[in-house]
Amino acid sequence: MSSGMPPEDSVTAKVADVEEVTKCNVDRTDRTGKDENTVLMRQKSPEKVETMSKNQRKKLMKQKQWEEERDLRKQKRKEKRLKRKMVLQSQAESSSGESFRKRIHRDVVPSTLRLIIDCSFDKLMKLKDVKKLHKQIQRCYAENRKALHPVQFYLTSHGGQLKDNMNETDKGWVNWKDICIKSEHYSELMKKEDLVYLTSDSPDVLNELDESKAYVIGGLVDHNHHKGITYKTAQEQGISHAQLPLGIFVKMNSRKVLAVNHVFEIILAYLEKRDWKEAFFAVLPQRKGAKPLTRPAETPICKPEQSEIAQDEISDSD
Ligand SMILES: C[S@@+](CC[C@H](N)C(=O)[O-])C[C@H]1O[C@@H](n2cnc3c(N)ncnc32)[C@H](O)[C@@H]1O
Repeated sequence: MSSGMPPEDSVTAKVADVEEVTKCNVDRTDRTGKDENTVLMRQKSPEKVETMSKNQRKKLMKQKQWEEERDLRKQKRKEKRLKRKMVLQSQAESSSGESFRKRIHRDVVPSTLRLIIDCSFDKLMKLKDVKKLHKQIQRCYAENRKALHPVQFYLTSHGGQLKDNMNETDKGWVNWKDICIKSEHYSELMKKEDLVYLTSDSPDVLNELDESKAYVIGGLVDHNHHKGITYKTAQEQGISHAQLPLGIFVKMNSRKVLAVNHVFEIILAYLEKRDWKEAFFAVLPQRKGAKPLTRPAETPICKPEQSEIAQDEISDSD
């Protein structure tokens, strides 16, 4: 077995007793010109071992240890083989003859719902926040690729600092699959009546997801410096808007403005679970103090005017 080669001087591995090991080591280290027998004689008496150089003694010890641990290594290899066999067996059983990967692929049913990250706020952000947004987008992309019901994912108004940062730090984005990355504004790509801007400041609360619609998430990391900007945008453009039904199901530590990736992931989770409460708790970090409400609130806890007190973002990457 090739695993765990002996330390240097492995040629000596088959040599069983210390005497001969010593010989091998000395053969190569003795540069004094003394013949082999003289050296061997010298090594045979224990007091001579003491006259060996520090290096020679170290080598000798290592060799001895290597020999002593031979059985242990053999046993470990045997255990490893057995473990691997068991894992393969249980994988084969759980996929009832099919490969695990094939099974996952078969269960994926893409949703027709379009989910857009609107990147038109690029100029409002400092570079450090653009970098955070980039990370959040990477996370959305990865989650969508893994999802059971992936959405039709769009990045619109793509350009500026965000595009520069993607080019600099993640050139691979040009090869991303199952995503439409456009420099155009979403209003040039979608019918107005299909659009619903997701914004925590909307008085309308999302009840169901309509998979024929195009939902927009503001591509913004602003630490609430631009309060209500997406709500204002939706109103100005005359498009529908809605907030997630967070306040109905979740008691938060005064935070209702979520980060882009959390909104995105909640939508994915809802498409899978068809249950808002489950979707929220699958995505929102516990550390942010999200607790289930014992009974769903009849009216959202977070009314538009209350959003003034809850403008922090929740994100792992924040
Ligand atoms: C960090 S927030 C940006 C906050 C920004 N001040 C604003 O006015 O939208 C990122 C985006 O996530 C979406 N979002 C965050 N919390 C939301 C909620 N509770 N309901 C619906 N959408 C939400 C919005 O689209 C928002 O633009």
